[in-house]
Amino acid sequence: MRTLHHVHAAFPTFAILAFLAIAMLPAKAVAQDTVSFGEDVFPVIELRCLECHQPSGTGYEASGLDLRTYGGLMKGTKHGSIVTPGNAFESNLIAVIDQRTDPTIWMPHQRRRLSKCERLLFRFWVSQGAKNN
Ligand code: HEC
Repeated sequence: MRTLHHVHAAFPTFAILAFLAIAMLPAKAVAQDTVSFGEDVFPVIELRCLECHQPSGTGYEASGLDLRTYGGLMKGTKHGSIVTPGNAFESNLIAVIDQRTDPTIWMPHQRRRLSKCERLLFRFWVSQGAKNN
């Protein structure tokens, strides 16, 4: 009887701790971590976009988008800005990497798409204000 009583008393504490560990920690990490342009976003641009988005690259020649710098990214294409700070859904940058556009402008153009993790970094960076941080 003593053992059974002990198990019953311990269960709610265990259940609450398990719930906190599973449900709250990931949400906290996602909501509070600040994405850095220099450390998180630019290295992906360098690997997956720059080849075409600099002078004489096909992407730069077709759209005018120069991704060598933060300033170039924020300036956008010859048609205008591709980033609306604070609003990832309205930002063309996020639409083309998430493949929410016409397939002819999915980015990286005719290449393997970015990983989910890379796409989330771009999205959070825009949602957090698209800062030069
Ligand atoms: C293999 C070359 C290539 C790579 C790599 C590439 N692009 Fe492009 N990009 C293009 C071309 C070509 C266009 C013009 C597409 C068109 O308008 O037909 C373009 C256009 C764009 C546009 C403008 C789309 C519009 O609204 O018309 C954005 C934004 C863009 N690229 C972002 C990126 C990003 C971000 C990456 C990296 C994740 C990337 N590109 C990688 C070739 C490339």
